Amino acid sequence: MFENIIVELGDGIELITLNRPQVLNALNIDTVSELREAFDYAREHDEVKVIILQGAGDRAFAAGADIAEMRALNPAEGRSMIANGHALMREMEKLPKPVIAAIQGYAFGGGFELALACDIRIAADNAVFAFPEPSLGIIPGYGGTQRLARLVGASRALYYCMTEERIDVQRAYEMGLVGKIVKPEELLDEAIHLAENMIRKSLASQAALKQSIREGLDLSIDDALMLESRIFDRLFSSAERGERMEAFLEKHRK
Ligand code: COA
Repeated sequence: MFENIIVELGDGIELITLNRPQVLNALNIDTVSELREAFDYAREHDEVKVIILQGAGDRAFAAGADIAEMRALNPAEGRSMIANGHALMREMEKLPKPVIAAIQGYAFGGGFELALACDIRIAADNAVFAFPEPSLGIIPGYGGTQRLARLVGASRALYYCMTEERIDVQRAYEMGLVGKIVKPEELLDEAIHLAENMIRKSLASQAALKQSIREGLDLSIDDALMLESRIFDRLFSSAERGERMEAFLEKHRK
């Protein structure tokens, strides 16, 4: 069904693998469209609890948009390419389920942007991030300028976008871009381990956390606290809250 990605389902996890290793998983238009279909599936199917996104091969998560394809696009086609990427990454952010990026090797340009749109990033010790767009006469167009600035601040975003300096994995960890660094051979196992851990907790809580943190960032502090209260109230009214608290107390009852 898919030509550019592989989708595997099992035990509550949808594992999506970017599968163009011969071009370091460069994101052509079809890949972005297929990713949208894979995330549509995640939204529409309750059996998918957590999504993991990785790149095939050992060299790259994704080395950016496909430059060979992009070179031939006219401006209208370029706008459509960008709209497709924006739609995908907003869908990932709005999906009420955790999305984990498991990154090894290059996460450049659009690959970096795709990782930035995930909720959690873990990386192999060979991971490296960069925005090489100025060398190509463009800027990051899949939200990279906005998401990097929101995650690490405008000063660092300007520095790394303008200089194209590579961010090694240790630096990415120090900046909070990456939550955990592991050996390449342990990357997928660690992502699955994190996913399984999340699945054991309340999935309503996971969705609520994502909504509260992501939507709250775009609000004033007063409005953000109102949002948090509304979401808290919703969970507090749920049967699951009662059951989970009772289960805790039952376990600790002497
Ligand atoms: N688009 C299309 N093809 C790409 C690509 C991209 N973004 N990135 C890598 N490839 C292809 C190369 O053309 C090459 O194909 P070939 O074997 O047919 O020549 C193959 O992937 C391997 O890449 P190569 O450059 O030989 O590997 P490397 O180890 O020497 O360098 C990079 C790795 C990531 C530093 C280099 O490929 C690179 O700079 N890629 C472009 C990154 C970029 O500018 N991304 C932003 C795009 S907006």
